[in-house]
Amino acid sequence: MNVYRAALLRFADDGSAVYESDGLLATERGPDGLARVVAAGPWAALSATYAGHPVTHWPDRLIAPGFVDLHVHYPQTDVIGSPAEGLLPWLEHYTFPHESRFADPAYCDAVAAFFLDELQRNGVTTPLAFATSHPASVDALMGAAQARGMRLITGKVLQDRHSPDGVRDDTEQSLRDTEALIRRWHGVDRLGYAITPRFAPTSTPAQLGGAGELAAAYPDVWIQSHVAENRDEIRWARELFPQASSYLAVYDDFGLMRERAVYAHCIHFDDEDRARMRGTGAAAAVSPTSNLFLGSGFFDYAGADRVGFRYGLASDVGGGTSFSPFHTMLAAYYVGREGQTKSGLSLSPQHLWWQHTAGAAQALGLAGVVGNLQPGCEADFVVLNPAATPLLARRTQAARTLDELLFALIVLGDDRLVERTLLAGAA
Ligand code: GUN
Ligand code: ZN
Repeated sequence: MNVYRAALLRFADDGSAVYESDGLLATERGPDGLARVVAAGPWAALSATYAGHPVTHWPDRLIAPGFVDLHVHYPQTDVIGSPAEGLLPWLEHYTFPHESRFADPAYCDAVAAFFLDELQRNGVTTPLAFATSHPASVDALMGAAQARGMRLITGKVLQDRHSPDGVRDDTEQSLRDTEALIRRWHGVDRLGYAITPRFAPTSTPAQLGGAGELAAAYPDVWIQSHVAENRDEIRWARELFPQASSYLAVYDDFGLMRERAVYAHCIHFDDEDRARMRGTGAAAAVSPTSNLFLGSGFFDYAGADRVGFRYGLASDVGGGTSFSPFHTMLAAYYVGREGQTKSGLSLSPQHLWWQHTAGAAQALGLAGVVGNLQPGCEADFVVLNPAATPLLARRTQAARTLDELLFALIVLGDDRLVERTLLAGAA
């Protein structure tokens, strides 16, 4: 049993934040080696129950759920900040050439270790990550996450056309590799596999069909891809799949939309697409720093909420510009605010934070497992120092409400806020 005392943030089932200025978090390791929350609440109410246990006291610190990054590319760690006219030239000039380096397993290992360190430094405890088309890139990331007890989902990218030598795979072999990787890694310790067609334009119908068959054969694996990010991409997808009723419908037609399917971007949607997301249980990975950096557009929060499909926040590094969930939440606020192409909203700080924790976990089908600190949740959490910089100290000191405190952390925060990141599976 571990008992912690600090301010405490978690989320109710309706997505509202629950905050204790003087909180208690108790965790206990189960027979599977994972620490889980056994109690969370006010210190005054709970401390008597846990008297006799040593207490780790973090005065003036805030314990909060570890962040869930719903869409990130570990092989693009070194692509961050590569400017281009838009998505397709960015892929051609920077991303594909760089990803070809992951043919070398030693390079995969080195980048995987750096990537996971960077996630942890920034407070991210559960990533849904793209690897590359090279199976060894999956082995490297899975092995590195397993060694540190991190919950992580990844998969080998499927891309058997319209891709250069070095990243393009072979249709039949890519599907055999995917199945072998599912069997090797899915459900092992805290690891999960995601069937990962890069996006419809770089997969043949045969590859998408094979991916859909694997999704049917392994119903609890995840699926991840990209959709409706950029106008040129959409035009291209529509040309390649003229029978489909929309770009999104291509994935549905191949059996790739269901619960545990996470589609990055989902910007240029109509209500039929939104209804398809809702009806299938698929979720959107909203990637605001990437969408602003690549000039892709603005996710329509009002549209998503009007129709009612699941979504959560993602860095989308390296189209995205930061590993920091604070930067991503602030960018999501700007994207929501944009009122030229859609009605502008002022998203609440509680809703922004939820999108990167409990909401993102729900999008993954992992509500009550990660992204929250209610009893039963795996004990992945961060310890934040609201006085990490002089300005943060001054601004958070002056906050009179929870919303003011959370907004100050979102607007002014970055990796300096994150004093510790604890993983439930760490030895
Ligand atoms: N669409 C297809 N591949 C990619 C990628 O690597 N990043 C982004 N942002 N969009 C994509
Ligand atoms: Zn992406």
